[in-house]
Amino acid sequence: MKGIVLAGGTGSRLFPLTKITNKHLLPIYDKPMIYYPIQTLVEAGIQDIMVVTGGKNSGDFLRLLANGKQFGLKHIAYTYQEGEGGIAEALQLCEHFADGDRICVVLGDNIIEKSIAKAVQEFEQQPSGARILVKEVHDAGRFGVAEFDGDRIIGIEEKPQKPKSNFAVTGIYMYDESVFEKISTCQPSSRGELEITDVNNAYIREGNMTWSALDGWWTDAGTFESLLRAANLVAKTSQGVAA
Ligand code: G1P
Repeated sequence: MKGIVLAGGTGSRLFPLTKITNKHLLPIYDKPMIYYPIQTLVEAGIQDIMVVTGGKNSGDFLRLLANGKQFGLKHIAYTYQEGEGGIAEALQLCEHFADGDRICVVLGDNIIEKSIAKAVQEFEQQPSGARILVKEVHDAGRFGVAEFDGDRIIGIEEKPQKPKSNFAVTGIYMYDESVFEKISTCQPSSRGELEITDVNNAYIREGNMTWSALDGWWTDAGTFESLLRAANLVAKTSQGVAA
């Protein structure tokens, strides 16, 4: 399985922190944000990784990460997203990199406490389809929200006003090779972006979506509140204090 970290976008919700740099280069406690999603993939045994960047600071990623020696990697692949076309558009740029393999995608601002290795192994045993990681939260309306029928996810709504569950869809997604065909049938949403939620719903309609509950804490870091929370969670965990 190959790994993809999506680190484009303008980070407008963090302006002016993102006026002169990319969101994913901002510090989370003692490391740049992008270190954490790369670490998530490497820890799960994924060594072949592509980083999608964008904007004016893409060269900084190469200087910071180089060939990934600090993660025990021999090489990192990079690609560039022009404009603000959304998560699914950024992912589409990785089709040639995936080259028919399965992929594990992590959004560059998603930071987690524990390992995803078990979910990755479970997905490897799955004959086809997709697998997402969900997490129970108190503010589900900020995220993609899963709707359940018993144990099955029957739909995902993006930032709903009335969430149908407390389970947020985290920014960690596993897909088979059909993901790129599915992205190509997506239409831009009202905010002009190709939404990853539409891609996930295409798998759900096919009856080919499974899920795992994420262990430990999870946070995004795309707003001032979540950026601060992420730093505090990482600091407490690295100091051995229960978060
Ligand atoms: C994105 C996805 C959303 C998901 C979230 C996880 O939202 O669209 O479904 O729950 O990431 O971090 P964004 O943070 O881009 O608004």
